[in-house]
Amino acid sequence: MNFARDSQPAPGSPRFIDNYGQTAGIPAPSGLEALAAGLGATQASIAPKYFYNALGSRLFEAITVLDEYYPTRTEARIFDKASGDIAQAIAASGITRPCLIDLGAGNCAKSARLIPWLQPQQYVPVDISVDFLRESAGQVQTAFPALDIVGIGMDFSQSLVLPSEVQTHDRVFFYPGSSLGNFSPEEALVFLKQISDAHQGRARGLLLGIDLVKDKAVLEAAYDDALGVTAAFNKNVLLHINDLIGADFDVRQWRHVALFNEADSRIEMYLQAECDLTVRWPGGERRFLAGERIHTENSCKYTLESMSELLENAGFSGIRYWTDPDQWFAVFWAAV
Ligand code: TRP
Repeated sequence: MNFARDSQPAPGSPRFIDNYGQTAGIPAPSGLEALAAGLGATQASIAPKYFYNALGSRLFEAITVLDEYYPTRTEARIFDKASGDIAQAIAASGITRPCLIDLGAGNCAKSARLIPWLQPQQYVPVDISVDFLRESAGQVQTAFPALDIVGIGMDFSQSLVLPSEVQTHDRVFFYPGSSLGNFSPEEALVFLKQISDAHQGRARGLLLGIDLVKDKAVLEAAYDDALGVTAAFNKNVLLHINDLIGADFDVRQWRHVALFNEADSRIEMYLQAECDLTVRWPGGERRFLAGERIHTENSCKYTLESMSELLENAGFSGIRYWTDPDQWFAVFWAAV
């Protein structure tokens, strides 16, 4: 794999490796084909990674401070209380100078709070939103001037092979924010196995934040807030697609829909056409009837038992977890 390196990072800024080609802002041709195929399918869909352009990353940051969106705040409280215990659990797994690999690092805020506890030898924030990550990795470097930081712009849903600058020993993967829930349980199993795989992630352990099953009304409000920030975040995917493939989506013609599917234990997110319309892009078009939906994301909710089982099935051991008093969210440590 070819990784594009900064020839010379500016003084005081971290090393940065861009494997996503943000200069062009365009994913590989196979990605574009998958996008068009998703739009053309009977049940149209857009992969959730396309939420995260520069505006999408900022809108998501805004979601995390909404009253209704309890996961970020609840996860932060768990870390506030348990970071000492978590650091001990990691040390007890025989990991002394971790390389902290932050998947979907975004604004890097969660790692910034964890770094003093884990004292990593190296910090590796990874994100698909490359310009946004470049900036936030720089801020972490300012806060921790002596820390070895290697920022990586890449689509880790495609491959977990990391560039040679990333330390190979004592790798601890950090996957907070219930992002694992955005995979189906089957995909999550494959992804977790890739993290521990000796030829891919080479993890010694995984620190995972995951949202738990709870009352439907609480769940649905978290994904459909009164202010409409989540609606804006969802619709912004259409603007991103317009940029990527030259489509002509008009966001005014779409409505945000979030429903909890109890049978499958997941929030399902859609964009629903408000009227009959046709979307065109070079090489294709798609007609939507009023009420027809594009699926944009699932957010699977687990129980403490179902997540422990998934981690065991993926080959992790010594599983521990920490949760809040209401058991709304959990942080898991799983060693390899
Ligand atoms: N990983 C987050 C979650 O599932 C992502 C997310 C939060 C999200 N709110 C959203 C994705 C709204 C799409 C729309 O909670």
